[in-house]
Amino acid sequence: MGRRRLVVANWKMNLTTPEGCGLVEAVLGMAKRRSEVDVVVCPSFVSLQPLGRSLAHTPVSLGAQDVFWLENGAYTGQVSTRMLVDSGCTYCIVGHSEARGRFGSEPPNPLSYFSDTDETVAMKVSALVYANITPILCVGESEDERGAERTDEVVAEQLAKALGRVAPEECSNLAIAYEPVWAIGTGKVCDHDEAARMCSFIRDKVTLITDSACGNQVRVLYGGSLKASNCAEIFAHKEVDGALVGGASLLAQEFAKIVLSA
Ligand code: PGA
Repeated sequence: MGRRRLVVANWKMNLTTPEGCGLVEAVLGMAKRRSEVDVVVCPSFVSLQPLGRSLAHTPVSLGAQDVFWLENGAYTGQVSTRMLVDSGCTYCIVGHSEARGRFGSEPPNPLSYFSDTDETVAMKVSALVYANITPILCVGESEDERGAERTDEVVAEQLAKALGRVAPEECSNLAIAYEPVWAIGTGKVCDHDEAARMCSFIRDKVTLITDSACGNQVRVLYGGSLKASNCAEIFAHKEVDGALVGGASLLAQEFAKIVLSA
């Protein structure tokens, strides 16, 4: 069976719960019109429970934006996989460039607050796989790394490290988002041929790293300033299995057009 396309809304630190509930109503309407595409909404932690109730038994899935890798304990401010499962999450973004402290534009101060490393990302991926939550693993190079022609090397290393703690046969239920840091929230979208090349590169690397057929099953998405006006040329490539959408996912009409184009 072919891979189903996947479109993920990453709301980041936006929308209160009532605002999110309103947007989810619109998302549900569009998902029903495009049943060939899997749609996931990732609100902030505080909206997970209510949105989980709204989305139960609907075609739209719930995702979290991050997780901590231990099940429980004295870890103030953290959220575990058990809590995500309890909220109805079946997906979770992990290793987003913003959580790694790699920003496309206007870095926050202090930057070190955002502290994911390849090692913490690997622990989070492993905890999610163990909890049966699909990780949406983000990888991507910065502007300087691309300028230095290190894109492939950086992405390959992020992948190898992130998948270092999971068994090859556990990798098939993964989604991987190619998200060039310089394209996140900047309005600079990656050239569609290059996005497709990177998605194909990621699939080949996953096959190599896991030494298995997982590469064929993993869904590889593009993310970075994707909008209704530029998504069609990206989705025209069969190497791209969908998208991780930030800013445009906050606008019902924009997001609807992206889901309908996927
Ligand atoms: P953007 O964000 O669409 O606002 O660039 C994408 C992401 O960070 O996943």
